[in-house]
Amino acid sequence: EGALKLAKRHTGRTGLVSALNSYHGSTHGALSITGSEGFKNSYRPLLPGVAHLRYNELADLQLITHDTAAVILETVQGEAGVRLPQPGYLPAVRQRCTEVGALLVLDEIQCGFGRTGTQWAFEQFGVVPDILVCAKGMGGGMPIGAFISSPEIMVGFQTNPILGHCTTFGGHPVSCAASLATLQVIQEENLLAGVAAKAARLRTGLVHPAIREVRNCGLLMAVEFDSFEVLKPIIDRALAEEGILTDWFLFCDNSLRIAPPLTITEAEIDAAVTGLLRAIQ
Ligand SMILES: Cc1ncc(COP(=O)(O)O)c(C=O)c1O
Repeated sequence: EGALKLAKRHTGRTGLVSALNSYHGSTHGALSITGSEGFKNSYRPLLPGVAHLRYNELADLQLITHDTAAVILETVQGEAGVRLPQPGYLPAVRQRCTEVGALLVLDEIQCGFGRTGTQWAFEQFGVVPDILVCAKGMGGGMPIGAFISSPEIMVGFQTNPILGHCTTFGGHPVSCAASLATLQVIQEENLLAGVAAKAARLRTGLVHPAIREVRNCGLLMAVEFDSFEVLKPIIDRALAEEGILTDWFLFCDNSLRIAPPLTITEAEIDAAVTGLLRAIQ
């Protein structure tokens, strides 16, 4: 909500462009840009002036125009089933935004805070957003989220009116302390350096004729099966018999989610792989 308002305030425009199969949240603004009619239909009317592009389709960048306030994308699409940007895609989006004066907002609520092996996923794809949105891993389990931008853009919220975006619990000291501690642990325990090897260990173990594909960006991973009908009993067994907490994705119901804490050990990975293979078998 804050990122959308800030982009409107900064550009003086109202158009928004986001991706099909994106998920950005349940509130009216976030729901408006979420790329699934099924999720939105019962709550219309929502925000006007929203266009949806196909993620990774360069031809659709023409939807970004001089009326666009912001283009909002997940750097790596989460609920679409872990879809990575193809080489050159995000730089092309960045270039189009800069050309027409639209702000690029990257939603890293799922892929940020180290999950992909760098602090931010966008570091791996050659772009820098104008506004960055994060939450989830940010609090190490405590509730906190943020939208981050430069002082030149943020200043829009300071005047006319003042308090352009405030909330009752914004900046809550306990959540902020938890987030700071999370950052410290990530740095002191050098957790980012271990992400690629941990992901590789999972991928090496997760080999089975029923597995069609494994997609991942660091420890954000999707394991694809033929169909939901094949996957659902596997998930049920993983939960009930193996003690493995997993599910499928909102917009990709043939894929199993793997998103462990960055602190997961090699022994825990091996136990998870063994349990999942048993559940598949
Ligand atoms: C990519 C992404 N953006 C936004 C959200 C919404 O976050 P919240 O539920 O904290 O509003 C989620 C939640 O799953 C998400 O995965």
